[in-house]
Amino acid sequence: MDLGLAGRRYVVTAGSRGLGFATAEVLSGEGARVLIAARDARRVEEAVGLLGDGSLGLALDLTQPDAARRLADEVRARWGSLDGLVVNVGGPPPGRALDYSDAAWADAVDGVLLASIRTLREMVPLLEPGSSVLVVLSTTVKEPIPGLGASNVLRPGLAMLVKDLAGELAPGIRVNGILPGRIATARTLALDGPDPRAREAQEGRIPLGRYGDPEEFGRVAAFLLSPAAGYVTGVLVPVDGGLLRSPW
Ligand SMILES: NC(=O)c1ccc[n+]([C@@H]2O[C@H](COP(=O)([O-])OP(=O)(O)OC[C@H]3O[C@@H](n4cnc5c(N)ncnc54)[C@H](OP(=O)(O)O)[C@@H]3O)[C@@H](O)[C@H]2O)c1
Repeated sequence: MDLGLAGRRYVVTAGSRGLGFATAEVLSGEGARVLIAARDARRVEEAVGLLGDGSLGLALDLTQPDAARRLADEVRARWGSLDGLVVNVGGPPPGRALDYSDAAWADAVDGVLLASIRTLREMVPLLEPGSSVLVVLSTTVKEPIPGLGASNVLRPGLAMLVKDLAGELAPGIRVNGILPGRIATARTLALDGPDPRAREAQEGRIPLGRYGDPEEFGRVAAFLLSPAAGYVTGVLVPVDGGLLRSPW
């Protein structure tokens, strides 16, 4: 199946490593042009080098109020408009919901909710008809993960934003969410810590019996971003090896 990605232009935020980079790699491998953004300029440069011809990078911190505006300015200057957008942010710190201080909650709201909303507000006007937006969420949209209180509280709000925008931006722009379970990125490995039994315990709860490979996530993301998924909008797609037991 031809995904129809060749020549299309995508922005991937938080795209220098992990899930964002894996998505950028698949898009680029299918002939799309990708602009990735993340904080560490050297890593951005390295990632752009790996993605190859036609890809671009911008060093920015999505928690800063002007980051989304800068990203939109870069797109305007380089490409004029866009065919798709991956809204991905740095993960919130672990903790139990009632243990975060007010300041920690404010940081989490800024880093997860506001960073995503600002990105959408600035980028949506640049999207051509026929574009696709994908918001990287988590299985916490449907089921809390013990010890990830900020994600458990904030991601469901963004899931409803996906549904909201899928209606608001139709019929020209499709908007979907993707729910990684446990994909083997640096963040997941850091959350597990050094004791290998932590990962074994997690894998024991996953029907497919293992963590996902970032590329397995990237392929599903690229499909949802592609014209091949042209009749799919407003859905939340788990990529979790069967971890979520609920059918809804
Ligand atoms: N991996 C999973 O299985 C999983 C499961 C559920 C949810 N998620 C969520 O998916 C997202 C990506 O996770 P990941 O596993 O890919 O993490 P990762 O491997 O740690 O990669 C994070 C990426 O985000 C960038 N980033 C972090 N903070 C940023 C900021 N303030 N501004 C701009 N870029 C920023 C990082 O680059 P710099 O550090 O250079 O900025 C890097 O490119 C997170 O929100 C995470 O909570 C992941």
